[in-house]
This record gives sequence, structure tokens and C-alpha cells, in this order.
Amino acid sequence: MKKRVAALISGRGSNMTSLIAAAKDPAFPAEIVLVLSNRPDAGGLETARKEGIAAVAIDHKAYKSREEFERAMQDVLLTHKIDIVCLAGFMRLLTPWFVEQWSGKMLNIHPAILPLYKGLHTHERALADGVKLHGATVHFVVPGMDEGPIIAQAVVPVLSTDTPETLGARVLVQEHKIYPLALNLLAAERLSTDGTRVSIKGESAGEGALIAPFIS
Ligand code: GRF
Repeated sequence: MKKRVAALISGRGSNMTSLIAAAKDPAFPAEIVLVLSNRPDAGGLETARKEGIAAVAIDHKAYKSREEFERAMQDVLLTHKIDIVCLAGFMRLLTPWFVEQWSGKMLNIHPAILPLYKGLHTHERALADGVKLHGATVHFVVPGMDEGPIIAQAVVPVLSTDTPETLGARVLVQEHKIYPLALNLLAAERLSTDGTRVSIKGESAGEGALIAPFIS
């Protein structure tokens, strides 16, 4: 049985799209059956509808508290019998209550090599620090923002000519590879964690890491 996945988005949803594309492979152990956005104008909702996927907006501004908003999301997730939640550019902080409901079943993608550059504006901050490597991380979601055991990471070079936009675009290409990879591993029940490190059952070289140090 394929795992039923919900992607939670707030914007364009390019990572969501990469998950949908990967899940079209009959061998992929998960299907994206629901896209939820806290913003009714998120571009990704329309993309999902065109793919024939249920796309629901739950406007956080319509709720008195974070908890009520999350309970509304939880109702929809349960209605759709969701097994795994993928945060894909979802720009709301989640309460410990919601995180607890999805412990070990909720992933996030972050555009930096965690634990470096938690939070926003990661590409700007990497350039300001003059680092030569940057990248992206997929991790299990825990209550702390951009914390949680790391499943997969990708590394890209930083060029002296980079702007936040060019660097972000290079990172995004790798995001679209590691998110499907991490979801595949979770849905195939190949992941376990002690709360800090993630073990991959039957791991082959590089499954949790993509390194692309050269640009052709
Ligand atoms: C990505 O850079 C992701 O890493 C971050 O938010 C951005 C979302 O982009 N969490 P998209 O909506 O998936 O295109």
C-alpha cells in the first residue's frame, strides 16, 4: 500500500511539484493525495488541481489562534487519511501539539546545510559569510524551528559572482532531488532515528547526501 502524503505549502510549490513528479513512478512508495495551503493565493494550489490532486486552502487569518488553525488542518488531514506530511515552503510555525500528532511522519525542507542558517534569508546570509559551500536539508520536524534529525542533504558551490537569486536557484535544483529521495526512504519504512541521527535501512552510498561541487 502506497503511503498517502499531504504537502503543506504557502507559495509557488516547486518542491511540492517535485514530489508529485517523483510519485508518478509506479515504484514510488507514496502518492501525493492532498495539498494544503495557509494562503488561498498560493500558486501551488492551482498546480495541484491541474494534476487532479485535492487542493485545500485554510486561511490562517480566519482563525483566532494558531491552535484553532492547526485543528482545522488536522481535521482535513485526517479526512484524507494522510500517513505522511511534507512541509514544502510552508511559512507558519507549528505548535508542539501539531508536531506531536505527526511525530516521525512529518518532513521539512530547508534551503541551507543545517544546522547552519536556520530561519529565513539563508542565501543572503551564506553570501554575507563568504562560505564556498551551501545547500539544502530534509529533516524530521520537531518542535524547534529547522531542528530535527537530518535525513538528506545536498551541497552546492558558491560562486564569487552569485547573488541570493542565482545561489537560491542552484540550491533549489538540489532541493528537488533530495526531497523525493527522503520521502521515498520514509515511505518505504527505511528510516529510524534515535532523536538525533537517522539510520537508513540497507543504505547504499550517498543515499542521504547529494554533493554537486562542480557546475557544468
Ligand atoms: C524552498 O526554498 C524551501 O526550501 C523553503 O521554502 C522554499 C519553498 O519553495 N522551505 P517552493 O514553494 O517549494 O518553490
